[in-house]
Amino acid sequence: MELCFHHGGAETWQSDIVLVPILDGSDIVSTNTELDNACPWLRTAPGYQDVSPHKHRLHMVYGGQEGLCRVLFLGLGKEADFSLDIFREGIGKAVAFANTYAFSHMLCSVSLLASLPFGKHRLLEELVYAAHLANDVYAPLKKADPNTHTLQTLTIAHPTPDPLLEKAAHKGAHAASATLFARHLAAMPANHLSPVHFAHQAVSMAKRAHIPCSVLDEQNMRQEGMEALLAVGQGSKNPPRLIVLDYASPNAQDQDPLLLIGKGICFDAGGISLKPPAKMHEMKSDMSGAACVIACMEQVAKEGLDCHVVGIVACAENLPDGNAVRPGDVVRAMNGDTVEIINTDAEGRLVLCDAINYAKTHFHPKAIVDIATLTGACAVALGDAIAGLFTKHALLRDRLLAAGELCGQYLWPMPIWEGYRQKLNSDVADICHTGPRQGGASIAALFLAHFADKTPFAHLDIAGVDWAEHKTALCPKGPTGFGARTLLEFVRGGSL
Ligand code: BES
Ligand code: MN
Ligand code: ZN
Repeated sequence: MELCFHHGGAETWQSDIVLVPILDGSDIVSTNTELDNACPWLRTAPGYQDVSPHKHRLHMVYGGQEGLCRVLFLGLGKEADFSLDIFREGIGKAVAFANTYAFSHMLCSVSLLASLPFGKHRLLEELVYAAHLANDVYAPLKKADPNTHTLQTLTIAHPTPDPLLEKAAHKGAHAASATLFARHLAAMPANHLSPVHFAHQAVSMAKRAHIPCSVLDEQNMRQEGMEALLAVGQGSKNPPRLIVLDYASPNAQDQDPLLLIGKGICFDAGGISLKPPAKMHEMKSDMSGAACVIACMEQVAKEGLDCHVVGIVACAENLPDGNAVRPGDVVRAMNGDTVEIINTDAEGRLVLCDAINYAKTHFHPKAIVDIATLTGACAVALGDAIAGLFTKHALLRDRLLAAGELCGQYLWPMPIWEGYRQKLNSDVADICHTGPRQGGASIAALFLAHFADKTPFAHLDIAGVDWAEHKTALCPKGPTGFGARTLLEFVRGGSL
């Protein structure tokens, strides 16, 4: 969908439909002179009497002889209950509704947003974001469905050019691009997205976004001493890859970077500690964290944000095989620590620990943030709408919470508690990679924090939120892309 900006009087508006969001009790139709100029027939149209401001009520009103002949009202409920979540969802429903009519063009006027809470810039950003998400029908492995229609253009009307409004709209579009790219990657089946393919995707993104990118193969990993990462990949014919994207604006070349690290398990069968078959297919998206990092990096570069950010994703396939790592095996991680592997299904922390080690050795990061579909325990603790945020660092916590809040991707602080450290003691190695089931999400975070050591560190566990069981207005069933926009907002938020 193309974003257009229209300037000039409302009598020059052109579109299949005009979208009019209304709050309960608002008299936008009688007070908005633009709307009156664009659709002088509106107030006397018979259908207008049936318009309802109830939350997410959609109602189309027809009239006029030529020009604009359809107005789509979107009820937003009472002002006191209004939220950006309600707004985004409403916009998503309005776009889906428009698509059932096979319209191509939708117009929304900034003046209609100006009277709502949160202000026109914020709402415009969210409108563009939500419209893009709702309009997406990506299904590359299906035959095209002739009955699927999508909006071709979204026109934002404003009497005069306004760079700040355009910036807000573009921010929304970039956030949507990040989310959709992450979703599309995570939806790819493992036979279409091996670690090598994932690296190709990252390299071609890096080319179009002009980000220096390097890919480590097994031989490079062996030279670096990344036995933990290699151990996870050794049960698959598809070899592991570590992908490094190093973005710096001209001003920030010499700054210590922020490190974003993603878990990129292209398929997680559990390895020798094989998972039960139910829902195992969902483990094709066990690379959602990596997808979020790649998708975020693209938009950071596209926006030319003034910062130094390095994205590292550790990709491998966790399969059982004659060559697979066994429970009880001991490997040496890149920092020299020996790690006892108890349950081969706890593979995420193994690939992440070597990604963290690599980041520390090669980049002197000012902070590390990782994102991973790490533990079922986190999903049990927080459900399918909130992700776990694990950090001891107050500024990282506050900044990440704010970033998530901004985009409706809610995070909840969870502990990294040193009191549990002895639960990771091993009889035979320096550290064991799992502890008891109880507190599993925190113990996984503690394992990662051990490798981050003194570097400020935060971990996002998205195991509960990366996959939607049911379609919603902004997301089809399947991968959600949760985290891509949060990371982008976090980076947009400025240096730490
Ligand atoms: N990828 C899974 C976690 C997961 C589960 C993500 C469900 C999304 C939905 C992870 O690799 C895993 O298997 N974790 C184990 C850890 C355990 C063996 C310590 C788990 O959560 O059971
Ligand atoms: Mn696993
Ligand atoms: Zn996994």
